[in-house]
Amino acid sequence: MTTPWRATILTLFPEVFPGPLGASLAGRGLRDGLWQLDARDMRAFGIGRHRSVDDTPFGGGAGMVLRPDVVDAACEAALAEGPERPLVALTPRGEPLTQSTVRELAAGPGVVLLCGRYEGVDQRVVEARRMREISVGDYVLSGGETAAMALLDACVRLLPGVMGAAGSAAEESFTAGDLLEYPHYTRPAEWNGHRVPEVLLSGHHAEVAHWRRAEAERVTRERRPDLWARRAAASPTIAAEEGTAPPPLAARPDAA
Ligand code: ADE
Repeated sequence: MTTPWRATILTLFPEVFPGPLGASLAGRGLRDGLWQLDARDMRAFGIGRHRSVDDTPFGGGAGMVLRPDVVDAACEAALAEGPERPLVALTPRGEPLTQSTVRELAAGPGVVLLCGRYEGVDQRVVEARRMREISVGDYVLSGGETAAMALLDACVRLLPGVMGAAGSAAEESFTAGDLLEYPHYTRPAEWNGHRVPEVLLSGHHAEVAHWRRAEAERVTRERRPDLWARRAAASPTIAAEEGTAPPPLAARPDAA
């Protein structure tokens, strides 16, 4: 039997795991052994009688910084077991988490996630251990734990057997065309005077598909001009529709 996808979390608050990952389909997958979660208390690697894990920043300033020797010992212990896994530090300074990174991590043997607290982690251990620094968004959380949960949730739902067909369908709809999802409706067909869009009641599959596509495009254009521009850059057809494509060669003044 192959070993399940394994997440080791290095944290000062192991008790917050699995948190929401213990519920619903991810939780069932955990209980069924489709993936493994091991939250380790970094204080076990702390220094001295008080098991200190942090200290004041050189150069002054507020807050505390996690010590490199403590973090390194925790990493060593986590990496010593099983197949080689990527070491990821959750930090607002990291590269933004994307669905393509999620797919890459989910396809591997698992991850070791370092959750920073206080002002952060001593940079020397981040570099010496070649950690991949990842952010879950342009805002500051009080620690990496909630960010680690977001990353894990996104990975675990892609693991074989965790979500079944529903998960793979939803994954396709976001990643295939870099589009946000179209809106969803269910019964009743009229609620508080608001009717469901008629086309969805029509039974015309092609028209429904066309409407959903148009809605997905509209909402992406309105809410995420960055995603929309990236899509247009990747597809000459969209760029032409948007009027952002370069003119055909024959139409350029210098082409003759
Ligand atoms: N830790 C604190 N804020 C974070 C963020 N935005 N992403 C990842 N880790 C964090």
